[in-house]
Amino acid sequence: MAYGDAMGYVPFREAIAEYLGAVRGVRCQPSQILVTTGSQQGLQLSAHVLLNPKDRVWMEEPGYPGARQAFMTAGAQLIPVPVDDEGIDVAEITRRGRDARAVYVTPSHQYPLGTTMSAARRMLLLSWAMRSGGWIIEDDYDSEYRFGSRPVASLQGLDTDARVIYVGTFSKVLFPALRLGYVVVPRDLIPAFASARDAADIFSSTLYQAVLTDFIGEGHFARHIRRMRMLYMERRRALVRAIHIQMGDMLEIIGGEAGMHLVALLPPGIDDFAVSKRAAQKGISAMPLSTCYLKPASRGGLILGYGGANARQIHEGIRKLKMSVRAT
Ligand SMILES: Cc1ncc(COP(=O)(O)O)c(C=O)c1O
Repeated sequence: MAYGDAMGYVPFREAIAEYLGAVRGVRCQPSQILVTTGSQQGLQLSAHVLLNPKDRVWMEEPGYPGARQAFMTAGAQLIPVPVDDEGIDVAEITRRGRDARAVYVTPSHQYPLGTTMSAARRMLLLSWAMRSGGWIIEDDYDSEYRFGSRPVASLQGLDTDARVIYVGTFSKVLFPALRLGYVVVPRDLIPAFASARDAADIFSSTLYQAVLTDFIGEGHFARHIRRMRMLYMERRRALVRAIHIQMGDMLEIIGGEAGMHLVALLPPGIDDFAVSKRAAQKGISAMPLSTCYLKPASRGGLILGYGGANARQIHEGIRKLKMSVRAT
């Protein structure tokens, strides 16, 4: 019941370090784990510790709006870098000449497009960081749920120069209301991160950290992941099937078989904000893809989450979505 360590509850940090080593190829000691209030706080603290106002940050385009917000509050200048089917275009970063202080990436499962960063791009990005002294902020938010191929190890595990700040969360693998995440902090940055966390809100609730430590230690966590992987795979298939049957002529699905969302591109010229608004009026949550772009998007699309809906609800949801697209 007393105040605890700003870095988090020690047994919980030990459990996280062991899990990340075994499952994500992350190389770290428990002392490097900072427990956070979800990955949003991990991003916020990273911005606070690493960036000065006006510092340049390369951002995946399209990319995660939550990361954008976190870096903007630190006064950073965000520079969009296009993403293709191998991930962020690192050659474009080098071509542009002027360097940046940091780059934000989602290499395991690009948000929102769903691609996996290729091995060649990973090596290029690490060598950029080593050469320029820049930081790589790796957001590994949902890598537990891959349905076709085997999970790809983290970028952090390949880093030999302590340039990667690895940010993770229990929001996807368990549930977002838990508000628990973590940062794997390079050793020399531990004091700076610990004092930033202390200044922000001291530490995360010990009760939740202790309960989750037991949940992991007693094997429930691993069982949960196995069970949910099957469930989400079935839900993804149900969504893909429903789209093909009902909206095959309107939506183009992109991205790999992983996570809890997919992106469906709309026909050129259709405003995704308008579709999203109409869908919301019918009780369907479909985030416009345009919200993930810093520059105007060349084509609209919808981010469709399937984690919380069963096959019947998915089918019905797509029926309503079809009406929303038709009416736009
Ligand atoms: C790219 C990305 N990072 C992180 C998160 C999770 O954020 P948090 O841990 O703050 O709930 C999400 C959730 O949608 C996400 O899409």
